[in-house]
Amino acid sequence: MTFRSIEWVEDHLRLLDQRHLPHRLTYSDYYSPHEVAEAIHNMVVRGAPAIGAAAAFGLVLALQSVDDDDVIEAMTQVQDAADLLKAARPTAVNLAWAVDRMLRRLHDPELRDVKALREAALSEAQAIAEEDVRINRQIAENALPLIPDKAVIVHHCNTGSLATVDYGTALGIIRTAHERGKKVFALVDETRPRLQGARLTAWELQQYGVPFKVIVDSASGHFMRTMGVDLCVVGADRIAANGDTANKIGTYNLALVAWAHGVPFYVAAPLSTLDLSIPDGSHIQIEERPPHEVSHVGDFQITPAGAAVANPAFDVTPAQYITGIITEAGIAYPPFRLSLQRLADSA
Ligand code: MRU
Repeated sequence: MTFRSIEWVEDHLRLLDQRHLPHRLTYSDYYSPHEVAEAIHNMVVRGAPAIGAAAAFGLVLALQSVDDDDVIEAMTQVQDAADLLKAARPTAVNLAWAVDRMLRRLHDPELRDVKALREAALSEAQAIAEEDVRINRQIAENALPLIPDKAVIVHHCNTGSLATVDYGTALGIIRTAHERGKKVFALVDETRPRLQGARLTAWELQQYGVPFKVIVDSASGHFMRTMGVDLCVVGADRIAANGDTANKIGTYNLALVAWAHGVPFYVAAPLSTLDLSIPDGSHIQIEERPPHEVSHVGDFQITPAGAAVANPAFDVTPAQYITGIITEAGIAYPPFRLSLQRLADSA
């Protein structure tokens, strides 16, 4: 089965609605930046690179409804849409990165009329989307030497085609290793509370024919002790200059368990996930999501009525627990302050 999380169709954006997976493969069409911002906030589309690309197309939509001869109004619409889209989710830096890249392109003084702005916006958004796919394939190539034959690999959240424009980061590595005949086996963290692992990663791995088992998030220590795990590989939403990494809630726990067992713990992410403007993870804003995601499974309430709930969507794994950060420009090893800067400079 082929599917694409994000697609530009004639004059609008089409998103695969990830909330209905694995039961239904449905797409919805978006015609305004407001609708796209809402889709990002409600997690119709999710995953750091995917929300960046969706926001880029959201800015293309901002230019659809302005008069052909009103450049000032067009740029006002673009700036309003940029602010709205950036605020849709706070943790993944790819969102702000993609919006800022679009703004830089649209502020080119050579773009003198609305038609030129529209064309430039669409070609820049398409470039962001196409680059994402190429980058993900390169991340997987760079990671291959790290994956032993018959490796057992723990994966957290969903970092596959659904979380990106296509192919994926951490899951792309597992997929490539499988395609190259490495006989890998994935232990898929279910990833409470939105169950990106159980619903999305399991669904993707079925499409690719990769052998796997879904486990509850708290089972990874058990499997490291009893079955033996060769490595963990996860994605990232923002990586600080010292290597501290924000990713889906539960990543930090997994990193600690891996560290205690001497299991290598890798982060896979494009360079657009680096935020070298912040010295460490304490500067990363962690998104707090609605309590019902924790108190309910679907429509069914699992907590006593009135029970207080906390729902941070991400955590920060301190760099000291990370073995390496795999990017399209190569693999960064500690000390990350030096190696990440070197990779960023090489791009
Ligand atoms: O809340 P989500 O589902 O958007 O969180 C996604 C993750 O944390 C992913 O692991 C991360 O964005 C990397 S995706 C390539």
